[in-house]
Amino acid sequence: MRILFIGDIVGKPGRTLVQSAVRPLVSHYGIDLVVANVENAAGGNGITREIGESLRDCGIDVMTSGNHIWDKREALDYIELEPRLIRPGNYPDAPGLGHVLAQAATGDTVAVLNLMGRVFMAPLDNPFTTIDAMLVKLAGQARVILVDFHAEATSEKIAMGWHLDGRVTAVVGTHTHVQAADERVLPGGTAYITDVGMSGPHDSVIGVDKQVVLKRFKTGLPGRFDTARGDPRIHGVIVTTDPETGLATGIERLSLTQADVDALRSAVADS
Ligand SMILES: [Fe+2]
Ligand SMILES: [Fe+2]
Repeated sequence: MRILFIGDIVGKPGRTLVQSAVRPLVSHYGIDLVVANVENAAGGNGITREIGESLRDCGIDVMTSGNHIWDKREALDYIELEPRLIRPGNYPDAPGLGHVLAQAATGDTVAVLNLMGRVFMAPLDNPFTTIDAMLVKLAGQARVILVDFHAEATSEKIAMGWHLDGRVTAVVGTHTHVQAADERVLPGGTAYITDVGMSGPHDSVIGVDKQVVLKRFKTGLPGRFDTARGDPRIHGVIVTTDPETGLATGIERLSLTQADVDALRSAVADS
């Protein structure tokens, strides 16, 4: 089984590229389930129902999130209507859930879980003890388990990889918007990457207009963080797993420019 995980979709440039790429990627790589982090999908911050539905329509099966999940207030209601949108499971008291059981194209059930780190981030419940409790609750319901660990510190993410090695199929990091090059299958059989990177404009500072950010760094004065536009790219990973064991057999990094997506689309159309 192959699971495509797409990193934080940022604003319209990210959405437009992802929406044109999901079906060609599914067909080219033989993908069975598509998961994407959508915390920045609406104007760079948050998610709305309209945008969530448009992402589902393009072939995204499950939407994960992170610290920006509540930036658009309607997300508080939307997440209760849409179980395929999840939020970090270690929020002590929030609408929605931190996990969902999805069905892959193979017919197998896949559990997708979302957690947030606490180093240089809001002090939510302990993600290490929370995930243990979540896995106990989900025992017997899915062999294939994917965890989106939304965190800032590389150390906390690597520690989570080791914490879950052999117990879940994959631990994929999100939030920094910068793709790490440390993807591997850990000795116990868990695929791991510190951060899959963002799917959005790369002519930017992690998705934000670079002039605005530079001015803020140079002057210390406040400025409105507008989403940048240039050089949109899709960043993500493809995790391969044996659905009988739930262990990973591979993890491959993806980094696609607009030209890469155009070439993929025409290759798929020709085949
Ligand atoms: Fe993000
Ligand atoms: Fe984030």
